[in-house]
Amino acid sequence: MSKIIVSGLKPSGELHIGNYLGAIKQLVELQKKDYKRFYFIADYHALTTKYDPKEKREQIFNMAVDALASGIDPKKSIIFLQSDVPAHNNLAWLLGTVTSSGQLNRMIEYKEKVQAGHVPNAGLLNYPILMAADILIYDANFVPVGEDQRQHLELTRDIAETFNGRFGKTFQLPNALHNETSRVMSLSDPTKKMSKTMPNGCLFLSDPPKVVEKKIMSAQTDSQTSISFDPKKRPGVSNLLSIYSSISGKSTEKLVKEFEGKGYAGFKKSLAKEMVAFLKPLQTKRKKLLKDRRGVMKILEAGAKKANPIAEKKLAEVKKRAGLI
Ligand code: TYM
Repeated sequence: MSKIIVSGLKPSGELHIGNYLGAIKQLVELQKKDYKRFYFIADYHALTTKYDPKEKREQIFNMAVDALASGIDPKKSIIFLQSDVPAHNNLAWLLGTVTSSGQLNRMIEYKEKVQAGHVPNAGLLNYPILMAADILIYDANFVPVGEDQRQHLELTRDIAETFNGRFGKTFQLPNALHNETSRVMSLSDPTKKMSKTMPNGCLFLSDPPKVVEKKIMSAQTDSQTSISFDPKKRPGVSNLLSIYSSISGKSTEKLVKEFEGKGYAGFKKSLAKEMVAFLKPLQTKRKKLLKDRRGVMKILEAGAKKANPIAEKKLAEVKKRAGLI
């Protein structure tokens, strides 16, 4: 039987190069292999911090457009909206009964969000339970995600083990799949991960060439003049090297040799040029999809039609185990 891959994208803004290199690149590459793939827009997850409903609707649509433009292919993967498959939430309730509040309180993402001033609503606290349900409902073997989701994946395994321990083997234990750029750092502060909350240091897939050039040319580096790869001591230049390597296919060693003695300006200019060329086909596809709202929604509806019976079947099995039917 084919192995199962599950991953989600939260529509809380547009996709950026961190999302792309940390997760989407893998999601696209995995389409070449004999796996069963469930890729979804995690719209319920995007409601845990304050939002405007009109804006949210657009973000959800934009996220679907970005995912398709990046190469997620509905002929190869089941792509859908999380809220169109209610079994995710039904399972989340059951999983919540085997998860302690202490486990949830320890989640770094939750603590960071609260520290940043977001209202600690129950949805924000329970977020990782829904994420566990997203994964366990399909019996996922692998979950391609960036490094920031590692703790949520560990909790998912813990929840599955607790449930299995109490009610008998019900869930497959999923493994996170991280690639070499599983933590892309902010261009304006390379000690922090790239995130839409710091837009100046965040390279969006939709950024026009001028903006790409500006963000890369003003990326924070250090006072040295040579180029070398050392993420601990030289996070800025190492982050740029990783990004460059990932979009060009050249190793960081090769890039260091290529830019030996050339200084930061030449290196950044070259990276900006490579990035603009890399984003161009994606942006062309994106523009076309943005005009075809109906077509994009149809793809998501068709995806949910495929995901629903699979998720419902698993939910029925879990309910039986839990003594409900
Ligand atoms: P989200 O939407 O924040 O991010 C989508 C994917 O991008 C990765 N990512 C990064 N990778 C490298 N460097 C960065 N700076 C960077 N920023 C983001 C994330 O790790 C993620 O893989 N909770 C998830 C969405 C989700 C999910 C799921 C994922 C909901 N249910 C089930 C997998 C399986 C999230 O907020 O990702």
